[in-house]
Amino acid sequence: LTHERYPVQRLPFSVVSEEDRAAFERMVPGRVIMDPEELEASNVDWLRSMRGCSKVLLRPRTSEEVSHILRYCHERNLAVNTQGGNTGMVGGSVPVFDEIILSTALMNQVISFHDMSGTLVCQAGCVLEELSRHVEERGFVMPLDLGAKGTCHIGGNLATNAGGLRFLRYGSLRGTVLGLEAVLADGTVLNCLMSLRKDNTGYDLKQLFIGSEGTLGVITAVSILCPPKPRAVNVAFLGCPGFAEVLQTFHTCRGMLGEILSAFEFMDATCMQLVGRHLHLASPVQGTDPMRPAFHVACGHFVTVFTGWLESGLETLPRRVWDQVPVLTSPFDLTRLCKGLSSSHVGGCSGTQRVCSLFCALAGPWGPSRPTPVAQTSGHAWSGFHYCLSCLGGPSVPLPLAHGAARGSLWGRVECGHWDRCPQSRPTPQACRGGVLTCPSLPLSQALWALRERITEALSRDGCVYKYDISLPVERLYDLVPDLRARLGPRAKHVVGYGHLGDGNLHLNVTAEAFSTALLGELEPYVYEWTAGQRGSVSAEHGVGFKKRHVLGYSKPPEALHLMRQLKTLLDPKGILNPYKTLPAQA
Ligand code: FAD
Ligand code: MLT
Ligand code: ZN
Repeated sequence: LTHERYPVQRLPFSVVSEEDRAAFERMVPGRVIMDPEELEASNVDWLRSMRGCSKVLLRPRTSEEVSHILRYCHERNLAVNTQGGNTGMVGGSVPVFDEIILSTALMNQVISFHDMSGTLVCQAGCVLEELSRHVEERGFVMPLDLGAKGTCHIGGNLATNAGGLRFLRYGSLRGTVLGLEAVLADGTVLNCLMSLRKDNTGYDLKQLFIGSEGTLGVITAVSILCPPKPRAVNVAFLGCPGFAEVLQTFHTCRGMLGEILSAFEFMDATCMQLVGRHLHLASPVQGTDPMRPAFHVACGHFVTVFTGWLESGLETLPRRVWDQVPVLTSPFDLTRLCKGLSSSHVGGCSGTQRVCSLFCALAGPWGPSRPTPVAQTSGHAWSGFHYCLSCLGGPSVPLPLAHGAARGSLWGRVECGHWDRCPQSRPTPQACRGGVLTCPSLPLSQALWALRERITEALSRDGCVYKYDISLPVERLYDLVPDLRARLGPRAKHVVGYGHLGDGNLHLNVTAEAFSTALLGELEPYVYEWTAGQRGSVSAEHGVGFKKRHVLGYSKPPEALHLMRQLKTLLDPKGILNPYKTLPAQA
């Protein structure tokens, strides 16, 4: 067997026999899946770009069951592909040939939560969003968040060392994961499920498994440190005329908000068009006011999203912010906004208890609107700090996002996430003046985030997607996008750039009507060589999986690759765990 699109030869693993199936049935009774229809979803990746032909999927519930399975597979020389939520972007989550799929879907129990330290211990198959809910009910948040949260598993997050939307604030899982349990290829259970902040007893073995993409062992349980839940969340979406201004905006916000800035995301105008076209999500910056020429539509190409943790109180914020927003003439005026955010006082609420998310948007092809006044405050009381900003406009004041171009528009908007506790608020966000974009059931802040989080989905509806996930010096982050637009011309349907600007992480995506080797040839190795030329990384956060293993050499020296290979041989001498993945193919 060879793989269709990617040249790879099946390695001489055993083929699953009737006896093997019977043995698995004894290990995980009733949880051996062989029905082709059920297997289909697990043989194909999220992007629908990889298809394996596994005939067996196993659903263990416990580490002991995983251990029995692996010990057996090791003895029988059967290859195994661990699978979490199957949301991976690099073809690591699905078999290449007929590897057994070991799903963590039923390993979904929370083991403990310590509400003094915020330490969560859970099985690897817990869905990230469910964990978020669990810890949020207890006054904490998960230190990571990503668009795939409703599907991805915490074990998969660790295995890929996922980055996501809170990386800027909480850093890598390499810092927030306190311990883990993993089952090695021969069935040995390695229990490093510590909950200590400090432990310098030799090599930090858990780090080997974080980011190892299922090639060194199966992660079965996780101990992770959750920070306290902020008591207020703000989101704003701001427009910038070009990438230079996006950078200046970042510089200003980071400088003024410091560690309370929790994310700084950006998306270009083409992304915004695509989420509009394919998902019907409206832009909050349509109808840029021509009276404020710096935000005139003609000069806009970018959308930036950023999130800040407020040092100070919201009750003093809205009036100042809304008063200031209409007179902002350039992203530099954000300094005043940031000053407002960071200097005012609030009773009983200190720095990290608040989150402020500001989305910087821009403008692109949306038409200018009438120069109508934007939001002004109308004299509502500001006492307390759980006011929902949507309620603060007063009945006679048009709120920009709700009314868009029809009633004038605002280039940005700050939103308090505490609908439920706002004395002015109605039970549902859409009942508030201001409403939400086109997602009436969501709080506005979530609707704004959806614009960013759902770009991936919009792109996959646009056609065949060529995905690049690269780390670069932040000032060069967008250079490759216009460069490729010019290089590819009409051969590409769209070339877009978005990503975690605050982390120096560009998601460069190209869509086309269909897969074409000619187009791929234009993109690669060009993109990788360019990235290496900047001393960037060819995989910032998605990992290597199957698709990127041939390009590791652009970011790692031969000695490092050699050591990786040695570690693999040590931990998995027969190479049964996720073969064909993460390590470069051997000659
Ligand atoms: P899977 O896709 O099932 O597996 C991924 C890899 O991990 C595979 O190699 C698999 O073998 C291995 N693996 C899974 N579970 C285990 C385990 N228990 N033990 C050992 N190995 C295991 N990624 C980011 O980094 N940042 C983002 O912001 C982000 N946003 C995304 C948004 C969308 C809409 C989508 C679809 C994906 C996004 N991703 C992002 C990619 C993906 O969600 C992450 O890589 C995620 O961590 C994968 O988790 P999963 O459970 O789906 O793992
Ligand atoms: C994101 O940041 O949206 C994810 O990493 C997914 C993607 O790159 O499309
Ligand atoms: Zn990302």
